[in-house]
Amino acid sequence: MARRTKIYEGKAKTLYEGPEPDTLVQYFKDDATAFNAEKKAVIDGKGVLNNRLSEYFMVGLEQIGVPTHFLKRLNMREQLIRRVEIIPLEVIVRNFAAGSFSKRMGIEEGTPMPRPIVEFSYKDDSLGDPLVPEEYVIAFGWASQQELDDIVALALRVNDFLSGVMYGVGIKLVDFKIELGRVYDGDFMRLVVADEISPDSCRLWDIETGRKLDKDVFRQDLGDLADAYTEVATRLGVMPSNVTHPSGKPTLIN
Ligand SMILES: Nc1ncnc2c1ncn2[C@@H]1O[C@H](COP(=O)(O)OP(=O)(O)O)[C@@H](O)[C@H]1O
Ligand SMILES: [Mg+2]
Repeated sequence: MARRTKIYEGKAKTLYEGPEPDTLVQYFKDDATAFNAEKKAVIDGKGVLNNRLSEYFMVGLEQIGVPTHFLKRLNMREQLIRRVEIIPLEVIVRNFAAGSFSKRMGIEEGTPMPRPIVEFSYKDDSLGDPLVPEEYVIAFGWASQQELDDIVALALRVNDFLSGVMYGVGIKLVDFKIELGRVYDGDFMRLVVADEISPDSCRLWDIETGRKLDKDVFRQDLGDLADAYTEVATRLGVMPSNVTHPSGKPTLIN
């Protein structure tokens, strides 16, 4: 069998050329990085969990009419996606203060926002993905004003959807980031949700106990990251509870 072409190897995923034009295969690795890749580890099973969780959220978004790049899951670690022109922004939505926002603004983690706040980081690892104002986005041509309006509207729809899904399983959606891409259909261009939606890219707190169930477990050494992600997946009914620490015989999860 011919070796497939690797398009890009990132920190958490690898992209390969897909079987059809304008498709890619997205492979979810077990690598975890934080603080602009200063902290690194391999977390057994993380890729499997994120592949499933991202599929679950993307399919749900499609069902409420939010377009995404997701086409289908191929196996435990890979999904087929539409190749898009990535907008070089991390679009962040915050419902409660946390992380860099708390640090920057001196507002305690967990403080509710007056309303969901949408902000943008410019995707550039060498700069540490700096926060940028809308002015930069327009002036440097990363997106047009019309696209920016659409991006904010999409991000808020994703926020309402994810907040509700999480609330249903006793989890608070503190914040998250998404990436968006352009898809061309003939003369028309539309924006779709791309990359991934997973506990790597969200802050998720148990509503009752405040337990963190996201990548902060890794950033702050709070315990076993795969256990936290498994908890999210199990509550959502996305996969059996013993995927990352199988005991005895192998479990069929496909
Ligand atoms: N549908 C898509 N088409 C093209 N590129 C994509 C798509 N979805 C995600 N990407 C890009 O693929 C890469 C995913 O790998 P990741 O490990 O997250 O990389 P990074 O280390 O750059 O964050 C990101 O650069 C992301 O922008
Ligand atoms: Mg990434």
